[in-house]
Amino acid sequence: MSRYYSNQKMTFPNPHYKPLSLFAIILLILTTYCSAHPLDPLTPLEINHVYSTILQLYSPPSHNLTIHYMGVDDAHKHTTTSIIRQAFVLARVNKTTHEITVDLSTTRQNPKIISDKIYNGYGYPMLTGAEQTAANELVLKYAPFAASVSKRGLKSEETVCLSFIVGWFGVKKREGRIVKVQCYYMDGTVNFYMRPIEGITVTVDLDEMKIVGFRDRVVVPVPKGDGTDYRECMQNDSATSSSDRRKLEGVSVGQPGGPGFTINGHIVRWANWEFHVAFDARAGLIISTASIFDHQKNARRTILYRGFISELFVPYMDLTEEWYYRTYFDAGEYGLGLCAVPLQPGTDCPANGILMDGYFAGQDGKPVLMSNVFCIFERNAGDVMWRHTEFGIPGRVITESRSEVTLVVRMVSAVGNYDYIFDWEFFQSGSIKVKVGLTGLLEIRGTNYTHKDQIHEEVYGNLLSENTIGAFHDHFITYHLDLDIDGQNNSFMKTFLKSVKTHHNQSPRKSYWTVETEVAKTESEAQIKVGKTPVAELLVVNPNKKTKMGNLAGYRLIPAPPISPLLSEDDYPQIRAAFTERNIWVTPYNVSEKWASGLFTDQSRGDDTLKTWSSRDREIENKDIVLWYTMGFHHVTYQEDFPLMPTISSSFELRPANFFESNPVLSVKSPENITSINCAKVIRLPFVETIS
Ligand SMILES: *[C@@H]1O[C@H](CO)[C@@H](O)[C@H](O)[C@H]1NC(C)=O
Ligand SMILES: *[C@@H]1O[C@H](CO)[C@@H](O)[C@H](O)[C@H]1NC(C)=O
Ligand SMILES: *[C@@H]1O[C@H](CO)[C@@H](O)[C@H](O)[C@H]1NC(C)=O
Ligand SMILES: *[C@@H]1O[C@H](CO)[C@@H](O)[C@H](O)[C@H]1NC(C)=O
Ligand SMILES: *[C@@H]1O[C@H](CO)[C@@H](O)[C@H](O)[C@H]1NC(C)=O
Ligand SMILES: *[C@@H]1O[C@H](CO)[C@@H](O)[C@H](O)[C@H]1NC(C)=O
Repeated sequence: MSRYYSNQKMTFPNPHYKPLSLFAIILLILTTYCSAHPLDPLTPLEINHVYSTILQLYSPPSHNLTIHYMGVDDAHKHTTTSIIRQAFVLARVNKTTHEITVDLSTTRQNPKIISDKIYNGYGYPMLTGAEQTAANELVLKYAPFAASVSKRGLKSEETVCLSFIVGWFGVKKREGRIVKVQCYYMDGTVNFYMRPIEGITVTVDLDEMKIVGFRDRVVVPVPKGDGTDYRECMQNDSATSSSDRRKLEGVSVGQPGGPGFTINGHIVRWANWEFHVAFDARAGLIISTASIFDHQKNARRTILYRGFISELFVPYMDLTEEWYYRTYFDAGEYGLGLCAVPLQPGTDCPANGILMDGYFAGQDGKPVLMSNVFCIFERNAGDVMWRHTEFGIPGRVITESRSEVTLVVRMVSAVGNYDYIFDWEFFQSGSIKVKVGLTGLLEIRGTNYTHKDQIHEEVYGNLLSENTIGAFHDHFITYHLDLDIDGQNNSFMKTFLKSVKTHHNQSPRKSYWTVETEVAKTESEAQIKVGKTPVAELLVVNPNKKTKMGNLAGYRLIPAPPISPLLSEDDYPQIRAAFTERNIWVTPYNVSEKWASGLFTDQSRGDDTLKTWSSRDREIENKDIVLWYTMGFHHVTYQEDFPLMPTISSSFELRPANFFESNPVLSVKSPENITSINCAKVIRLPFVETIS
């Protein structure tokens, strides 16, 4: 796979496409040779170029410069001129936030700054990994902290610390960029999250990189480490009899002919699908320009211009001094891409998977390799795509059955204790299933309690082990889904299922249900609480494209199990996360409305959220629209979540709805069964009749 010289051109049909002049063709050859697809993430070379351009203005030591975000600027969706390639940077220069746009398209050897704006509003950019590490190290070397650790009878060399964002709780005065550092204990386990050193909070100013607050409030025992280590080498085999060894027979995944998909640059082609994958420090995995080849129309049709996780809000339900502020915005504060992990072949990524790398800019402006960040694989998990057995024709039995093979793009983000498994699964039927799996470690609060019967006060969680409370919390995952169903101008349609009582003598039946549809004209008509608002089906349609039968070409959103916030609307974390109040919002496409929690999420005050944008109640009918969908989990903790959680998952689906003229997978062939790898085949056990 060539990262630098991908010879892709834009494949998303551009309505303004015009035949190219000879000059333009030469230019295109030149630029495609030395530049990437306009949606490709920044290459290491480009990251270096962007940083050196910024250095020309703000070079240290006369300036304190840190890079907090650097990504490809995708402001060109509606541009009609030639392809623009720009980088967007959030930097801190002398304790001031700058939004900088750097042009990379014209002369890559000499990029230039297009704009450089100072941001004076509320909120700060994402934290960098380096400054968190520095803050944690600062605390470990701080004498009063060491005294608190030894007061608890703990060894300082077994202590590890982590930086926690502080949120915003109604204070008018502007705080600096601070974090609260909380520490944990290892001593015999690597699962330090199960061993919080409760009661101590150290506040660190990240811009000054110094300790500005220290509090040692209560002493509670550090939960014991026994049985918390999750590494295979630490499992106690003698405790389990040999018959209970949890090792199954080997199961092989074989694809002797190699993968059935191709990757060219960042473009993936598989079956009837074609889409672009990109890595971003904040969003993580971005799927763009997904289109499907319609065999009936003999044409490629657009579906999704851009899909990514805009925010992941995780508020904890614990009011104690060391906990109340734990209301994380994992994308906007920590970065789902920054927290991505290298996927392990064989477990995170099956044997037939292909791994891809990503790059982001470190706070020092240098490119950082994120190896094996995506896994792309075909999944043949034994599901049935469609089938029928016909007994109704006298003298004949007809059976037709096809196996379901799908294509999965996966990224895993380990945001501190939690591991999120993010999957985009493409179906030959045109469906896209978007799945989130949660595993990893709970956030644990240390306590004096060792049995449930001792507890007669609010402890904000369940007792999972001795001295160990698993705190209650939520996960709200908000997707930005810029659907372009068969073109850019789309509408959002709600379909209500309505019960109708029959009138006198109309029928022996007393009732039936029927369907009523309503097109949302403005944003307010598209704000929906799934499971609360009485809407049965949610569709994005192209009002300009009808099937031969006269139905509007569309896609349905089939939501995950409903979730809505349980915090009050005036609670500060909820004001900042007001975009979770509705599961569905639809906004007109606006290039600067990408991040549901605002561009600057750390210590934000809720003045730049999806809710505030959408309160303008703009027109959304027959326009380029963006569908925002929030799914999630209320996490009541259980003992099985200790010391590490088995994966729990949830998913939603985007499914064609009158998009095709008929079933698009009727002529799909099942792949051949491979028996050569391990000689396994389906074995029929004969039916044994027992005669009494
Ligand atoms: C940053 O601070 C230094 C030292 O005070 C000063 O020389 C420089 O001009 C400042 N830069 C900006 C962009 O304010
Ligand atoms: C950079 O930050 C450090 C630590 O806050 C400070 O001592 C120094 O004066 C700053 N330099 C400039 C140029 O602002
Ligand atoms: C927990 O128990 C210890 C030892 O009995 C005691 O000193 C401490 O105050 C208790 N902490 C709380 C929060 O009750
Ligand atoms: C392993 O299990 C055995 C039997 O339950 C127990 O006696 C032993 O102490 C355990 N060892 C460890 C290291 O936990
Ligand atoms: C979308 O509709 C607007 C009118 O509302 C029209 O000006 C524009 O050309 C249309 N865009 C496309 C891509 O069809
Ligand atoms: C785009 O969104 C931003 C932020 O909500 C807003 O300030 C701007 O006016 C919008 N632009 C248009 C053309 O609506």
